Amino acid sequence: MTLEHVFRPRSVAVVGASDNPSKLGWSVLHNIVTYGFRGRVYPVNPGREYVHCIPCYASVRDIPGDVDLAVVVVPARYVEQVFLDCAEKGVRGAVVITAGFKEIGPQGEELERRILKIARDAGMRFVGPNCMGIINTDEDVSLNATFAPTQPLRGSIGFISQSGAMGVAVLDFSNAERIGFSKFASMGNKADVSGNDLVEMFGRDPNTKVILMYIENFGNPRNFITIARKVSESKPIIAVKSGRTKAGAAAASSHTGAIAGEDAGAQALFKQCGVLRALTIEEMFNYAEAFAAQRLPRGKRVAVLTNGGGPGIIAADAVEGHGLEMAGFQKSTVEALRSVLPREASVRNPVDMIAGATASTYRSCLSILLKDRNVDAVLVINVPLGKETELETAAAIAEASRFTGKPVLACLFGRKESSEGVRHLIEHGIPTYRFPEGAVRALAAMWRYRSWREKPKGRTVRFRAGREEAQRILDGAMSRDREWLTKREVDHLLELYGFRLPKGMVATTEDEAVRIAKKLNYPVVMKVVSDDIIHKWDVGGVALDIKGETELRRQYRRIMSNVQKKRPGARVDGIRVERMITGGREVILGMKHDSIYGSMIMFGLGGIYVETFRDVSFRISPLTDVDAQEMVEEIRGYQLLAGARGEKPCDIKRLKNYVLRLNQMVTELQGIREMDLNPVIALPKGAVVVDARVRLEQHGSQ
Ligand SMILES: Nc1ncnc2c1ncn2[C@@H]1O[C@H](COP(=O)(O)OP(=O)(O)O)[C@@H](O)[C@H]1O
Ligand SMILES: [Mg+2]
Repeated sequence: MTLEHVFRPRSVAVVGASDNPSKLGWSVLHNIVTYGFRGRVYPVNPGREYVHCIPCYASVRDIPGDVDLAVVVVPARYVEQVFLDCAEKGVRGAVVITAGFKEIGPQGEELERRILKIARDAGMRFVGPNCMGIINTDEDVSLNATFAPTQPLRGSIGFISQSGAMGVAVLDFSNAERIGFSKFASMGNKADVSGNDLVEMFGRDPNTKVILMYIENFGNPRNFITIARKVSESKPIIAVKSGRTKAGAAAASSHTGAIAGEDAGAQALFKQCGVLRALTIEEMFNYAEAFAAQRLPRGKRVAVLTNGGGPGIIAADAVEGHGLEMAGFQKSTVEALRSVLPREASVRNPVDMIAGATASTYRSCLSILLKDRNVDAVLVINVPLGKETELETAAAIAEASRFTGKPVLACLFGRKESSEGVRHLIEHGIPTYRFPEGAVRALAAMWRYRSWREKPKGRTVRFRAGREEAQRILDGAMSRDREWLTKREVDHLLELYGFRLPKGMVATTEDEAVRIAKKLNYPVVMKVVSDDIIHKWDVGGVALDIKGETELRRQYRRIMSNVQKKRPGARVDGIRVERMITGGREVILGMKHDSIYGSMIMFGLGGIYVETFRDVSFRISPLTDVDAQEMVEEIRGYQLLAGARGEKPCDIKRLKNYVLRLNQMVTELQGIREMDLNPVIALPKGAVVVDARVRLEQHGSQ
């Protein structure tokens, strides 16, 4: 079912229309009338004959003509009856502004369920309840069905807000900034129409060039990934997400569990579907203005043109800091700049025309820069030196940018939206910022989006694996209500999925340990094997780099006595003697089940780095090969793995392969709640999992 009746109605009933200006029922009708709705409007209120000098009806059922959309502002207790009336009348869409539903507790939740059922049975779609309304600025429709005090400007931004109050504030703010909207929707409780529905619809809307979202929580993150990924291929989605999840904090017995809390899920989700995340509402609009008005840059080489040295340097720093590059000019560019600029000016990037620059200097230099083949975008900065020249300069900038295919962003240093020059630039499609950083950040977002759009989409990879046997191991342990797999089970599971483990065996006596070590060749590692001990190192249960028999015997006894001292009650199965893996780097691979986002996969530097630097990356499973590649490459320590300072590089390919194998494990096996492979030692050739833990889903846990 489409949302056509909601956003493009030919007739609207305002149920609960009021002639008391302090009521929402007044504001909504007032907005619909004064914004110039192109269709018919019917106030509905059983106590009035007229509202706003428009004939009023006692019930939706009494309205003589068809009604496409009902905007409901009656008190909560009447909403159910209104819905029944709408159903009978054959109304196809509704916006329920009324609050007092799910957000107030079980009673409201029940009411919400009931109206949803009425709507479903009648084939009626509705936005809300508990929302601020919707807007469609399309000239053929001109519908402002909100109670906001500000009328929106027409433009190409579609805005979806989970908070009504935020919606009001945003309309107000954007009016002052001269930002225009194509459509606006406040989602409210999302009983029927979800954020995903709206993204999909705005995605198809030809008037919407950029989609903005204010999100507090996801109803269905999986669906969001699929839908947003598809929409992002043709238009950018920019989101502010607040209300970080607490889901991760509870389960902290694995590293992955401990680190995956807070915001990791949202962050991964946005990355995986190309949604640009802004940290503040202001930043979101900074991005939006650039996306709405300008083309995407074809590369990341930026030219900065300024009449003041300081701002130029600030801009250059921001360019480097946000992952863009300062362009190196062609020789002809440098020569051309030389010929129009005084000797004291700098013709290198940032181009400093110095204080004497006039409007015409701006015009010539900008034209020269835009012609340079090594320049993908230009940031023009103007420090105000006189009010008279501001408009002239702005006009010159707009004119020089008129026929270029490259994005031009401007910064009129420190000036407000109300100033003439800024207005002129914005009206001529040049996004204009108060400070260089804002402009650069927007440009960087455009470049990130462009890169996302152009990168290969990735595919899912399947390896041969012993899936059934692995599932049997998990089922067996779960049927005995165990929380963890034993060491033996973990190793078996990993082998079934093609992970390499160090050779080794469990000894139950010192002499046996000696025999095993001889077979393996020194150096060896010993570690206690006990289901009661989760962190072996912490209890003195691990000995590394044992080079001979005497040392081995000493360490054997040391481990036994350590364990007895620190974990007197622990049942010890023996001591595992295994090959010491040398000449590699430790990484961690993990997975955690998140109640909101599902299985999250983690990759990072292992050992001490996990805890101290938290240098890890997350993605939500299922992963593609491109996801796995990015996960490995995006950690800060990637340079260490790739062979910094002439060291031997690790087998990166194998690490990506391991990420995908883990992904396959968690997608096709049931019952794993958390898993740490820590560490995996990445070697120049291959990688070995030297320690791992698998925590099971239990009855009673989520
Ligand atoms: N076979 C091995 N080869 C090389 N180093 C190892 C080996 N086994 C363990 N280590 C090192 O010892 C550390 C602790 O061992 P591990 O088995 O991870 O115990 P735990 O995590 O329970 O404390 C590892 O992080 C790793 O640095
Ligand atoms: Mg470990």
